[in-house]
Amino acid sequence: MELQKDVNAAPVHGIVRLPDTAPLAAYEKDGITIYRGESLNVLRQLPDAICDCVITDPPYSSGGLFRGDRSGDAAQKYVGWNNSDKKQYGTFGGDSRDQRSFFAWASLWLAESWRIAKPGAQCYVFTDWRQLPVVTDAVQAGGWTWRGLLVWDKGVGRPMKGRYRNHLEYVVWCSNGAMPEADDIYPSTLLHVPTVPSDKRDHPTQKPVALIETLLSVCPQGGIVLDPFMGSGTTLEAAKYSGRGAIGIEIDPKYCDDGARRLSQGVLF
Ligand SMILES: C[S@@+](CC[C@H](N)C(=O)[O-])C[C@H]1O[C@@H](n2cnc3c(N)ncnc32)[C@H](O)[C@@H]1O
Repeated sequence: MELQKDVNAAPVHGIVRLPDTAPLAAYEKDGITIYRGESLNVLRQLPDAICDCVITDPPYSSGGLFRGDRSGDAAQKYVGWNNSDKKQYGTFGGDSRDQRSFFAWASLWLAESWRIAKPGAQCYVFTDWRQLPVVTDAVQAGGWTWRGLLVWDKGVGRPMKGRYRNHLEYVVWCSNGAMPEADDIYPSTLLHVPTVPSDKRDHPTQKPVALIETLLSVCPQGGIVLDPFMGSGTTLEAAKYSGRGAIGIEIDPKYCDDGARRLSQGVLF
């Protein structure tokens, strides 16, 4: 697949010089790079051991108990139940794999991410309760050492009479082998961060910047964060706010543009 080039194209990351064979960036500024393209394809072109942390929110391929439910429209599956969500922020693709194909596919991009991560780097992968077992298998198949689970309490969830509220999502935590000595901090594995209000979202499943900033608190200062499914660029924005570099990959040109716009605004440390 041919990668497209528009803004400031150069096979250069702000901090790491990539080889001439690296893909062309759709956005490159202040140590933050966006590649527009299919994630696995782009990952395969990036060099070994260049990033300090991986944070990603891949298409969950969830949203229902049965195969027919999964193949529905992603925006409808994840936010369509909320009548207060009046804003149309579009949808996204790649979200209808069954569990077997999700496992095979996720193992591939997790293995590539593992290769691109430095030894000791940490990786955080978002998922929901249905896909949690397959994601914990896939991270290990990709070479990562599974270390634990973070629980995101997002405050709201699809209400169902007489049933527990579905207001939690999960972040699978792993590392590229043994982890180095770290700072004297002990963040909680319970993350209470409200979802982004619907009228402030560019993406239907946009994560709050504050949530990603919490994950980044244990990633090396000044390091490079990789997000192979960046959507509207929340991970990149959090990296920029915290003085880190970042590499994001996104297949949908609309979300690449949203990410580039978000990154060209705001504070730079
Ligand atoms: C769950 S969303 C990420 C949302 C993001 N966390 C945010 O805050 O905006 C997953 C993204 O992965 C993108 N995607 C799906 N399949 C892809 C693929 N094979 N390669 C690259 N991006 C892909 C979708 O277009 C979607 O925007």
